[in-house]
Amino acid sequence: MAEIYPTLESEMLTKPHDESRQGEALSLPGDTDKTSAKKYYIETYGCQMNFNDSEVVAAILAEAGFTNTTDHTIADLILINTCSIRENAEQRVRLRLSQFNVLKRQKPELVVGVLGCMAERLKTKFLEEEHLVDIVVGPDAYRDISKLITSAEDGNRNVNVLLSREETYADINPVRLNSNGVSAFISITRGCDNMCSFCVVPFTRGRERSRPVESILNEARDLINRGYKEVTLLGQNVDSYKYTDEATGEHTNFAQLLAKTAELDTTLRVRFSTSHPKDMTDEVLYTIAKHPNICRYVHLPMQSGSSRILRLMNRTYDREWYLNRINAIKTIIPGCGISTDIMTGFCTETEEDHEQTLSIMDEVVYDYSYTFAYSERPGTLAERKYEDDIDEATKSRRLAEIVSKQRAISTISNKLDIGKTFEVLVEGESKKSKDFYCGRNTQNKMIVFPKHNLKKGDYVNIIVTGCTSATLLGDVV
Ligand code: SAH
Ligand code: SF4
Ligand code: F3S
Repeated sequence: MAEIYPTLESEMLTKPHDESRQGEALSLPGDTDKTSAKKYYIETYGCQMNFNDSEVVAAILAEAGFTNTTDHTIADLILINTCSIRENAEQRVRLRLSQFNVLKRQKPELVVGVLGCMAERLKTKFLEEEHLVDIVVGPDAYRDISKLITSAEDGNRNVNVLLSREETYADINPVRLNSNGVSAFISITRGCDNMCSFCVVPFTRGRERSRPVESILNEARDLINRGYKEVTLLGQNVDSYKYTDEATGEHTNFAQLLAKTAELDTTLRVRFSTSHPKDMTDEVLYTIAKHPNICRYVHLPMQSGSSRILRLMNRTYDREWYLNRINAIKTIIPGCGISTDIMTGFCTETEEDHEQTLSIMDEVVYDYSYTFAYSERPGTLAERKYEDDIDEATKSRRLAEIVSKQRAISTISNKLDIGKTFEVLVEGESKKSKDFYCGRNTQNKMIVFPKHNLKKGDYVNIIVTGCTSATLLGDVV
């Protein structure tokens, strides 16, 4: 959690790229030990797309007759779905594998599988470096997983890290095992065609592809029928969603997909993440403005306030372009919540560049920032071309300055909400007290309030009566 904006408290939102959950070791609850069926335990690190992938894997394993357990000590199969975004993400996985190693020594028939981005990055090297690992499965190879498990049970060690240009798991209905029954994620694209020079994702997730419109809408319809009240459309760059229906020739872009999803049911909240500043169009913003059930919230990763650094990062926009997009959000959707990702200490970053990041934060007034120190990733353009020349102490100091500025801005932004009334979707019990619920307003701010006779999934008007820098406190109007 060290790199994460520290005002993130337990009830703070998580977002599709919220690596704050990397260390959370989230496991999926489900049936335990009721049958003689083989039991699997799965742990997920990384972004929400990875969490959603684990739900796809859960569906594939259920089909193959496996049942889920949250107790890894009784599992026949342990899967760890990994993230490579920063070095410390990988270190966490290595540490966890060493713990599973102890278990494997006591129980040699245990099958251990590594999935996700680290599997894709390291491929067969994983088998050489981690002797307990039986299977290594990349993000596009999950349909192959039961075959690989069967082979591992026969004593083989296997790798399938083939990336695909087509795979979107469109026909697989994810098993929502770790859900609050109110909010769910729907992946709409996979992969990424941008080549940000610092980023490992294009290498671990492959080329960008969009999922068929109808498969997305069907998944949303199914969730609505099962009582879900909020969906988040996920992609590394949702704005570049594009799909052409072969039968009808109809083209659908992201704005149109958003509208179609929102129009399924006006009581369904629709969110999305992540928007890329270079691709976020006014059409998307007008679509949000037109549909009250599309949440007034945009996560627009800025990375740096310095145009020189943005060029080195190959983000393909500059400070002016970024501010133009922010102004468009503020003009077209007044009162819209805005958050961002900031990376500090990228190659050659000077104090002046850093100052520009601090000043853009003042200009935009973000509700939240997710902040990271640059971590060089093998194989990326930055690793090959630029020297990782900012020392750790400087990175930490700049990060602390960014975090402290954000905390001050968030506190002001939250104080301005005191006295305002917001419609809130009740998401579940507050982690701090059994007598309170928590839920978010359309701007994605978490609000904690007394339970009264409300239940999960209700919409309720809450007047804000107090705040911390991360959470609003309120009561039913
Ligand atoms: N597709 C999203 C980002 C996905 S990764 C986008 O383009 O905005 C989530 C965040 O992790 C990034 O926005 C960036 O701030 C951070 N990140 C990515 N690579 C990193 C690296 N090598 N070191 C530190 N932070 C990184
Ligand atoms: Fe990485 Fe850039 Fe793609 Fe985001 S847009 S996933 S930062 S390459
Ligand atoms: Fe996500 Fe981490 Fe992979 S952020 S796409 S799981 S590298």
